[in-house]
Amino acid sequence: MSDEPRIEPATGAEAAEIAEIYAHHVIHGTATFEIEPPDAAEIAARMERLHAAGMPWLVARDAAGVLLGYAYAGRYHTRAAYRDTVENSVYIRHDKLGQGLGTRLLGALLEECEARGVRQVIAGIAATEPSSVALHAKAGFVEVGRLRSVGRKHGKWIDVLYMQRALGDGDTSPPAEEPG
Ligand SMILES: CC(C)(COP(=O)(O)OP(=O)(O)OC[C@H]1O[C@@H](n2cnc3c(N)ncnc32)[C@H](O)[C@@H]1OP(=O)(O)O)[C@@H](O)C(=O)NCCC(=O)NCCS
Repeated sequence: MSDEPRIEPATGAEAAEIAEIYAHHVIHGTATFEIEPPDAAEIAARMERLHAAGMPWLVARDAAGVLLGYAYAGRYHTRAAYRDTVENSVYIRHDKLGQGLGTRLLGALLEECEARGVRQVIAGIAATEPSSVALHAKAGFVEVGRLRSVGRKHGKWIDVLYMQRALGDGDTSPPAEEPG
């Protein structure tokens, strides 16, 4: 059996395992500005909304079936002209950080986005999370802006960095169809 993690589309049945991974980062970290961990039903509802919008949500599992992490992309804004731009998220199980899983999941997510015709990907990253900045820089994202002290968590004001990466033709050709 291969030691490589298996990356595949998530299903609603995995919501409880995803909620467990996310809860650790909500409670202990600053990557997300949520303060109360959402329960499995709320995660399932979020997954269903992205699924209905045709957006990707991927999970990585090891050979024993343990859920190692997940990544998803959602519309950056719902207004029509933003149609070809998404915002991405990646979360790795707290005891599996720094083993290349984020790199693999983000790479797979970008492929899924590109296959859907997405042209721009935005990551909103808490400046207190160097691993996330490094992950996105390694995947070709560049910093495009910084909002100062817009978050408050664990007794600190937190900046949000925006990093962006083009996919496919980026802005060098029009989309297959104009939004509308
Ligand atoms: C950010 C996150 C998804 C990265 O996934 P990961 O599996 O830990 O990262 P990887 O092992 O793939 O490493 C990616 C790069 O980041 C670097 N990196 C990892 N941890 C780091 C740290 N604490 N400080 C600085 N750089 C770090 C690695 O060196 C690697 O670059 P390299 O291959 O050139 O050495 C993961 O750490 C995580 O879930 N963090 C908490 C939640 C979060 O911040 N999510 C992002 C929200 S969009």
